[in-house]
Amino acid sequence: MPIALPSSLAFGLNFLHPLLMWGLLALSGYAMLLGIKAKKTRTAAAEDRKELIKGQFARRHYQLGSVVLAVMVLGTFGGMAVTYLNNGKLFVGPHLLVGIAMTSLIALASALSPLMQQGNLIARKVHVGLNMSVMTLFLWQALSGMQIVNKIWTSR
Ligand code: HEM
Ligand code: HEM
Repeated sequence: MPIALPSSLAFGLNFLHPLLMWGLLALSGYAMLLGIKAKKTRTAAAEDRKELIKGQFARRHYQLGSVVLAVMVLGTFGGMAVTYLNNGKLFVGPHLLVGIAMTSLIALASALSPLMQQGNLIARKVHVGLNMSVMTLFLWQALSGMQIVNKIWTSR
């Protein structure tokens, strides 16, 4: 049984998750740029490094990355909560499964942080591979998400 919410509240809730996730896509893109610059700093020749290091890219990437991780966890479970509140069930479809996969991948990638900070090169490669997959899936997730928004809008 769906939990009875006032209908305008229930309708409005449908748009919280999409708005949050579009914001998160922008934030993740910026976190990715900071990560790429952190690598550039780490691998630069000594004289270029002096200049690049002032950007504090590694520290800023870690900080923003942590925000991205937290919002993705909340956004995913929030999306599931809203779907459940409105329908009394979840729809085990691509948007749900890819969303869960993305959250798992970014959590695993984040868990490599201590190893990366100790300079473990394999941990860095795995971190980048996992998170670049998350970014690719994110683009697809935005498209399938907008199809759901469209469905909710037109079936009102
Ligand atoms: C948005 C997705 C993300 C992408 C595309 C990404 C990408 C990268 C890249 C390219 C590097 C540089 C690797 C190298 O130096 O070879 C890096 C390093 C790092 N990332 Fe991420 N990352 C993401 C999210 C995160 C998250 C969620 C966390 C943790 C909460 C995180 C923590 C770190 C840390 C600790 C480093 C090492 C920085 C250092 O050199 O000290 N990243 N990441
Ligand atoms: C980027 C744009 C996105 C849009 C426009 C979008 C849109 C939506 C919409 C409209 C719903 C249905 C909520 C409802 O019933 O009212 C939904 C559900 C959901 N979303 Fe998203 N979403 C996006 C990104 C994401 C991302 C990045 C994740 C996870 C990483 C995610 C995970 C979920 C999950 C797990 C559900 C519950 C699905 C179900 O049980 O059927 N979404 N999304």
